[in-house]
Amino acid sequence: MSLKGKRILVGITGGIAAYKIASFIRLLKKQGAEVRCMMTPASSDFITPLTVATLSENPVGLEFYDARTGQWTNHVEWALWADAMIFAPVTANSLAKMAHGFSDNFLLATFLSAKCPVFIAPAMDLDMYAHPSTKRNLAQLEADGAFIIPAESGELASGLTGEGRMAEPETLLAVLEDHFGSDESYKGKKLLITAGPTYEAIDPVRFIGNHSSGKMGFELAKAALQKGAEVVLISGPSALELSHPNLQLIRIQSAQQLLEIVQKHWSKADIGIFAAAVADYRPADVAEQKIKKSEDELTIRLVKNPDVLAWAAANKQADQQVIGFALETNNGVANASEKLERKQLDAIVLNEMNEPGVGFGGNTNRVQLIRKDNKITRFELQSKAETARALLEALIVK
Ligand code: CTP
Repeated sequence: MSLKGKRILVGITGGIAAYKIASFIRLLKKQGAEVRCMMTPASSDFITPLTVATLSENPVGLEFYDARTGQWTNHVEWALWADAMIFAPVTANSLAKMAHGFSDNFLLATFLSAKCPVFIAPAMDLDMYAHPSTKRNLAQLEADGAFIIPAESGELASGLTGEGRMAEPETLLAVLEDHFGSDESYKGKKLLITAGPTYEAIDPVRFIGNHSSGKMGFELAKAALQKGAEVVLISGPSALELSHPNLQLIRIQSAQQLLEIVQKHWSKADIGIFAAAVADYRPADVAEQKIKKSEDELTIRLVKNPDVLAWAAANKQADQQVIGFALETNNGVANASEKLERKQLDAIVLNEMNEPGVGFGGNTNRVQLIRKDNKITRFELQSKAETARALLEALIVK
């Protein structure tokens, strides 16, 4: 089974759902995983360290310093030991601390030392889960590269019913199995992915840009890495972060810089996915000093930017694949097919802006993949992470 021999570090914080971790540990052990657990002081009100130690067949990490043995527990060693860390349940309090880098207990210090993939399963009452600060903290942790296992809807300890229940142990297991799954379909493949907007300077402080968040490109990179690929991700200005041993993340500002970096890396790539929202035009002249508001009108002359995607397609070897993106407001399929043809692409991913749940900044997407033989695959409305996985699965079987 896929978790056989995998070292899973389970972090338990002080929520009522902690009692369910007993069965989660059993499920992990059944799949052949090696399990170590860490607990925050508050969590032992809900499940005893003895239960956790017995089920995991390993000592439990509780404190930096064990007063009984006089030994210091090395949280860095614990972090390096793990192939994956999963924190479940994570209370609103621990979540906030994790999002802000607090390390006032052993579990948090180990989290901060993680070099492996980290999974976070929040659990709290529905109002706490819905609070803007919780949402912000979850988004921050996701942006830092953690995988969030969303809470589910159901009966809560408070007697209320709503979103906030920790995902069931079976779901936690399925997420880990999926992560370590035997899907190594991109092993040995080198992907070049462009992401985010470009900023085209007007003067030293102003630019022309767009609202692209970079999410789709980052999710594609994440999914490709999970499937064993080596990835060069070239991103315009974006708040997103990603780190992985097989990832080279290069940040750029303008379309011209994007082109230069793509030109440097393209010949080594097997597949290029061009998800960046490149500005089509840039100011013809960039003012050396900040432009003062002297006249009533100001005209900025724009010139066309190089088309990075078209350059890659025109300079591709027979065994390279070039995938473009098209964001359309009307006549989606016709416009995207025209782009595919004109830029000589292998496939194009169509995003239709006028659909609800689709577009810049959001977390969901409904896309269609149009191939050069005009075969169209339609995907359902789903998270950008799921869209990314589905696209890569569709692309690998040409
Ligand atoms: N693209 C690019 N370089 C550019 C412009 C676009 O690499 N200078 C890529 C985008 O990353 C995307 C695809 O081209 O994969 C489609 O971009 P889009 O701007 O929609 O296409 P255009 O051909 O510029 O058509 P439109 O007239 O709709 O802007």
